[in-house]
Amino acid sequence: MDEHLIKTVNKLQDAFSTVGVHNPVDLPQIVVIGSQSSGKSSVLENIVGRDFLPRGTGIVTRRPLILQLINRPATETPKSDDEGASKGEENPNEWGEFLHLPGKKFYNFDEIREEIINDTEKKTGKNLGISPLPINLRVFSPNVLTLTLVDLPGLTKVPVGDQPKDIERQIREMILTYINKPNAIILAVTAANTDLANSDGLKLARELDPDGARTIGVLTKVDLMDKGTDVIDILAGRVIPLRLGYVPVVNRGQKDIQSKRSISSALENERNFFENHVSYQSKAQYCGTPFLARKLNMLLMHHIKVTLPEIKSKIAGTLAKYRSELEQLGDPMTDAAGQAANATLSIITEFCSDFRGALEGQAADLST
Ligand code: GDP
Ligand code: NA
Ligand code: MG
Repeated sequence: MDEHLIKTVNKLQDAFSTVGVHNPVDLPQIVVIGSQSSGKSSVLENIVGRDFLPRGTGIVTRRPLILQLINRPATETPKSDDEGASKGEENPNEWGEFLHLPGKKFYNFDEIREEIINDTEKKTGKNLGISPLPINLRVFSPNVLTLTLVDLPGLTKVPVGDQPKDIERQIREMILTYINKPNAIILAVTAANTDLANSDGLKLARELDPDGARTIGVLTKVDLMDKGTDVIDILAGRVIPLRLGYVPVVNRGQKDIQSKRSISSALENERNFFENHVSYQSKAQYCGTPFLARKLNMLLMHHIKVTLPEIKSKIAGTLAKYRSELEQLGDPMTDAAGQAANATLSIITEFCSDFRGALEGQAADLST
């Protein structure tokens, strides 16, 4: 039931953005923020379980990427087993679709990465420029939890290449548009081998979410910490307490990227790391990417339940606005603009009734 609700919300969001209305309803999204190269894209990729995001040292992510993961049961028999899929082989049950390339299904995740790079360069040039124009990507797979995630350029202070002089302010503002929505869930990523007190991501998260009601701390690069040091004090809330806590993870390092280490091998390495580390072995079930993914899904569902009444009234308001615009356009059947508005209205109406169904299903849950 929860899965159905999130799918409905995703569809609704798509319907709006197809007609050029970006995020008219404040739908919950999980937004990844932090310093440049703290490991944001790596964290997202591990949650998805497929290699498809540009990653690496320096400013690699230069436009927001809105990523909708949609859990969809397998309907085709893959040529090889799951192991093969995670090694980069194509799986007929797993594909990506970009909003800017409607109808084109990408079964090869390397091609998804190439398209992200292509479209980034198209809008920002090749010389490290940035743009707030988002890339919308949906990934359908039986192997993901249904979640919407946003990958963002990292916070940086010194402009390089074609970057504007005020790059720090521009990136900050780009991030703010995603995290200032009261129902956005903030994933504040900090490399564990840097000082938590200097974490740009945490600082920004605390400005927008002072109570820490919607911020999860993610500690990356735990494997790169000096011998004899660990993140136990941070996890225990003794450094900068966060209501929703911190999750330590180990992503692939730059060498792993170069040697094309697979995600499944990386996740196995991560599990071994926490299970065998003297500091973490007693709490290994609260460490690593699988725990982060579970925590995220629970939080998202909680948020949707809490914000349902508000979302519902906003949809009603938007519908009323479209109706009155339609009336002003005259007879919708006789002019092109009217027909477009009419089509929009019917898409939205369809999704609203879908959404109402989900709401009714959810009502029983809410009242208990
Ligand atoms: P982003 O700029 O925040 O999106 O960071 P990326 O995901 O692109 O990663 C930046 C660099 O840090 C890459 O070279 C990654 O391989 C490396 N990296 C990220 N997370 C980890 C980690 O947990 N351990 C190690 N050893 N390297 C990591
Ligand atoms: Na980077
Ligand atoms: Mg990145």
